Amino acid sequence: MTVRDISAYSNRGEAYEASQDTPVNPSSAPTMGDIINARFGRRDMIRGALAVSAISATAAPLLLGSSTKAQAQAGRFVFDEIAHGVDETHHVADGYSANILIRWGDPVEAGAPEFDPMNQTADAQEMQFGYNCDFIGYVDLPDGAASGEHGLLFVNHEYTNEEVMFPGIGDQEEAHFADMTRDLVDIEMAAHGCSIIEVRKDGGTWQVVPDSEYARRISTRSTWMQLTGPAAGSDRLKTPADPTGTRVIGTVNNCAGGQTPWGTFLTAEENFHGYFWGELDPGHPEFENYDRYGVPDNWYAWGRYYDRFDINAVPNEANRFGWVVEVDPMDRNSVPKKRTALGRCKHENAETILNGDGRVVVYCGDDERFEYVYKFVTEGTYNADDRAANMDLLDSGTLYVARYDEDGSGEWLALVHGQGPLTAENGFNSQADVVINARKAGDLLGATPMDRPEDVEANPVTNKVYVNLTNNSRRKADGVNGPNARAENNWGHIVEMTPAGDDHTATAFTWEILVQCGDPADGAVGAVWNSATSENGWFSCPDNMAFDAKGRMWVATDQGGSWSRVSGSADGVWAMETEGELRGTGKMFFRVPIGAEMCGPRFTPDDRTLFVSVQHPATDGTAAYPGFERNSTFEDPATRWPDFQDGMPPRPSVVVITKDDGGEIGV
Ligand code: FEO
Ligand code: CA
Ligand code: CA
Repeated sequence: MTVRDISAYSNRGEAYEASQDTPVNPSSAPTMGDIINARFGRRDMIRGALAVSAISATAAPLLLGSSTKAQAQAGRFVFDEIAHGVDETHHVADGYSANILIRWGDPVEAGAPEFDPMNQTADAQEMQFGYNCDFIGYVDLPDGAASGEHGLLFVNHEYTNEEVMFPGIGDQEEAHFADMTRDLVDIEMAAHGCSIIEVRKDGGTWQVVPDSEYARRISTRSTWMQLTGPAAGSDRLKTPADPTGTRVIGTVNNCAGGQTPWGTFLTAEENFHGYFWGELDPGHPEFENYDRYGVPDNWYAWGRYYDRFDINAVPNEANRFGWVVEVDPMDRNSVPKKRTALGRCKHENAETILNGDGRVVVYCGDDERFEYVYKFVTEGTYNADDRAANMDLLDSGTLYVARYDEDGSGEWLALVHGQGPLTAENGFNSQADVVINARKAGDLLGATPMDRPEDVEANPVTNKVYVNLTNNSRRKADGVNGPNARAENNWGHIVEMTPAGDDHTATAFTWEILVQCGDPADGAVGAVWNSATSENGWFSCPDNMAFDAKGRMWVATDQGGSWSRVSGSADGVWAMETEGELRGTGKMFFRVPIGAEMCGPRFTPDDRTLFVSVQHPATDGTAAYPGFERNSTFEDPATRWPDFQDGMPPRPSVVVITKDDGGEIGV
């Protein structure tokens, strides 16, 4: 065991904000800063150049004037929206119920002990629901049936907040992790990862099936995973604990994800850099790579007790994170696979669509300021009659990165070793090198730096692809480009892409901006919404999204504490019109409690149930709210949602939303 101290400490939230404030992408890709002021130029294009541009008139949102408070017109979403606001609990539209399905600490695996916040152990946590639920996937049981009332839920546990998890230690940033004992670190590692639970609707109420044969916790502490694809076995993935470069314990910072046509789940490793500490010598062969990804960033004390999270002790370990991991929920003994063919970055998500020719396409965002949008196209095709034949489809295919051109067109650029600049003279000796440093490959190919790509997903009904760009306060006026048209973009926007010929494997596409988020009543924001958007229908900072079976879009937001103060509303789920006259119109459906963000929206295939993740209740930016005015601790949180019991800390939870009449949601 190495006991190490470090000179720079920080917690996740502030460290993440700080890392996001540092544009690490050194790309020399053109930023189009010489093309007039794109912020206004783009808006003019939307408003005035419809006849001659690639932007279709029917698709263009209108500018909502500062005095406009139009009521939502009849659209595709039938419900009475809720109001913006911030308080201690959650809210859903009238006529719907939003019940707690499972909370941090609830039993997952058979034999798990009841949650006891004052006497937590890693062994107990490893059998209980983890912390900070994020992505949600759902498949009906039995496999392939469409009951909509009995299935498997796959949930990610992105990260941990020690100040509200553990009694008596407070925020460890100031304390330089002084109170983070090995036992507490072990609990944190056990609280990361994923949960698989069996869920069933009984008497109209969804419940977790106890002691299910499928129930499983996947953790950073003990779950072995296999590295597959082009980087597997690379010298750059070998460590003293794994001289083969093919086996690794655990997965970290699992944010969003996706699910495949063959019923497996994909979980995306996002901010893996924060888990490492140490300081790599600038002469080390991985120094440039790690610098590009912000490794190390010292968010946790794990490196004090585990050499592999100390980059001085085990320099290659950080190359074994930042991947998309595939999990087969049908076999609780299956080994999760880190699919290196999909590239290494701060993967927000990995959502699939079955292309018309049977190939499978995975869309991914790399969530950091000025990073890129990716897709992966399988070489083989999906076999609906043979599940086993699909299980390694994600190991062979082509990874692409997106370049958006100013005229509304764009191109997917292949990241293939030996092609173009991806050669030995630029440090790429193999496809392993390309996928390990996918960001550098994207730099060299001229990919377009974006405003933090979160979820990238295809609408399965229309084949349009949507990119949620959450925000980018560091984009300067001379750095705007076509799809990122606002400087100091604190509010985010949504880009819509149309694959050429409705073919997701095509390298050509067109794009346009669906909406510029933010408060339309504040002229300085430059928001662009349909004028039918009501005063509660606008939002900021789109993060996750879901499409229901009708191809309607639902958006989940993550403003961070500071921007929810500005907006006057907690995060939530908004319905988003993408077609017809109301395209660009939002409508608020669900709201989270103070300090939380909204993650993981997932519909059952029958559209009668919507699962959502309420992540980090009480933790984010609560000090500035009247009536709260404090940073939360275990002893004094801004809310004790969802239990509201003395002594019980706030608990990240999955909420299940159903319509009281049992009907389809939003109908
Ligand atoms: Fe973990 Fe990009 O949100
Ligand atoms: Ca996210
Ligand atoms: Ca987020």
